[in-house]
Formats: sequence, structure tokens, C-alpha cells
Amino acid sequence: MNPYLDEKNMKIQKAVIPAAGFGTRFLPSTKAQPKEMLNVVDKPLIQYSVEEAVQSKIKNILLISSRGKSSMEDHFDHSPELERFLKEKGKQGYLKEVKRIGELVDLNFIRQKEALGLGHAISLAQSYVGNNPFSVLLPDDIFDCPTPCISQLMDAFSKMKASIIVLGRVDREGTKKYGIIKPKQVSERIFQVEDLVEKPGPEKAYSDLGVLGRYVFTPEIFQAIKETKPDTKGEIQITDAIKHLLKSQSVYGYLFEGTRYDAGNKMGYLQATLSLALKRPDFKEQLKDYLKTVKVED
Ligand code: UTP
Repeated sequence: MNPYLDEKNMKIQKAVIPAAGFGTRFLPSTKAQPKEMLNVVDKPLIQYSVEEAVQSKIKNILLISSRGKSSMEDHFDHSPELERFLKEKGKQGYLKEVKRIGELVDLNFIRQKEALGLGHAISLAQSYVGNNPFSVLLPDDIFDCPTPCISQLMDAFSKMKASIIVLGRVDREGTKKYGIIKPKQVSERIFQVEDLVEKPGPEKAYSDLGVLGRYVFTPEIFQAIKETKPDTKGEIQITDAIKHLLKSQSVYGYLFEGTRYDAGNKMGYLQATLSLALKRPDFKEQLKDYLKTVKVED
């Protein structure tokens, strides 16, 4: 067990949301606006992760931002002019929603000056989280789960008392897109990570268990990131840092319960938008009727 993790500081109180990437898979939409501010049904992508953390009783969130992304900060800030305008026009529903967003959580921001990889982005959170375990949520992944995904992961963390990453079953194509673990099963949903390979492809994959965008880390991940060399693109990858951490500590994986959408690429984004809209009582019937009328040309 990690020497820092006595019962007192086992509780995860902080979340880190890295959102400083370029979003190249979404160009040209992301040329002049952050990917994280793209609308999914009726709120920006980033709000899903923030709300997941809030629902999981995390009160402090650090958002890793970058140049040209200040609209994320504005989104979670108060907006006195807009609030006054909505009040004057009697638009109470919108007013309530706009105020709610500004009061969601204690949100802090830090900028990653250069996109040097996810590992590097997470390392910027060190002084914010200190010597405590912490959670990381990648905003590209929208989880639709009976219990919020990060809450499931935090429960598993409190059992294993070691860094733990969220896993999903992937198909052959998925082995080319995700980090794949070499698993040793511990319980129905928990696996010890014996090794981890980034995008191995179906021939070299140890399993069909892929690493998705939710993590709980012990503070030793920061040292592991420091000791991790940049890849050929000059980026410090979190997968490499986790591999490094494995040399000194156990790391576990947790197979989550629910559905996950990879909204960081165009197809996953369309699937998320459609599936989540079909679950909304205010859109469901109309959208179902509309879809029946859509003619698909070959
Ligand atoms: P991705 O590689 O999936 O996102 O990184 P991206 O870089 O924004 O998009 P593409 O690949 O160019 O299309 C996963 C998460 O890590 C963050 C991203 O913002 C995203 O939430 N990230 C990535 C950083 O914060 N900094 C980086 O240097 C790289």
C-alpha cells in the first residue's frame, strides 16, 4: 500500500479535467473554438464531466486550459448582464439554468502553455492536489451510467487503495485506438494491471480491456510523469507514466457499468448526441418520429 494513503486521506476530494488539447480530429470546427465547448444536445461537452464530478461529491475541480479556450471559464462563471436580461424578459427557466451553471462547483483554471501531452497536462495539477489521491476526467468521454462513472471508480479505489483506471471492452478496431491492459482478474469488475500497451492492434493485444478516460491516481504518479520520456512526437503520454508507476506500485483497472461515448471524434460525437437526445423526455418522441422519416441514400 502507498505510505501516504492512510484512512484519513483516502477520500478523493479533487478532480482534474485536462482540456488543453488541439482537438485536431474535430477540425475545422475547432479552429477558433474549443472542442470542449461543442454542444451535445443542449450543453457543452465539458459540462458533462464537471457535472459527473459534482454528482460524485467532488467539490474542487482544476481545469487544464490553454490559449484560445477562455470561453470555458466564461461558461462556468456568473453572467450578471445575461441574468438581468433574462429576469427582465421573464425567462425564468433559462435564468435558473444559467445561474445553476455558475454555482455548480469551485472551479480553478491553469493553462498548459504548450500541448506537450496528457501526461504533461496532468503534471500541472501537482501543487493543486498535493500529496493526496485525486481523480482525472477526460472531457471527450461522456459516460451515461446508473452511478456516475467516477463515483464507481472512487469506490473501487477505496477497496484497492492504489491507482485505478477505467476499463471498457473494446473490439478489434478498439485495440488500435486505446491502451490495452494485460489483466489479472481480482474480482468481477476489478483487474490488476500487469502491463499496458498503447494501441497494440488485435494481433499484439493482451486482452479486450481498453483504458478509457477516467482515472484515480495516487500522488506518486507525479514522480512517474517526471521520469517518463516524451514520445516521438515530443509528448509525455499518461500511458507511459502509468507503465513507469507499475515498477514501484500496483495499478488496477475497473470495468465500469454503463455506456460510454467517445465524443472526441466526429462519429462518437454524433452517436452521443443522438443517443442522449433519445433519452430526453422533451426530445424523445419528436426525434423518434423524425428518424422514421429520414431517407438514407446508398
Ligand atoms: P486527445 O488527444 O484525445 O485530445 O487528448 P486532443 O489532443 O484535444 O484531440 P486530437 O487528438 O488532437 O483530436 C485527451 C485529453 O487530453 C487533453 C485533451 O484536451 C483531451 O481532453 N490534452 C491532450 C491536454 O490537456 N493537453 C495535451 O497536451 C494533450
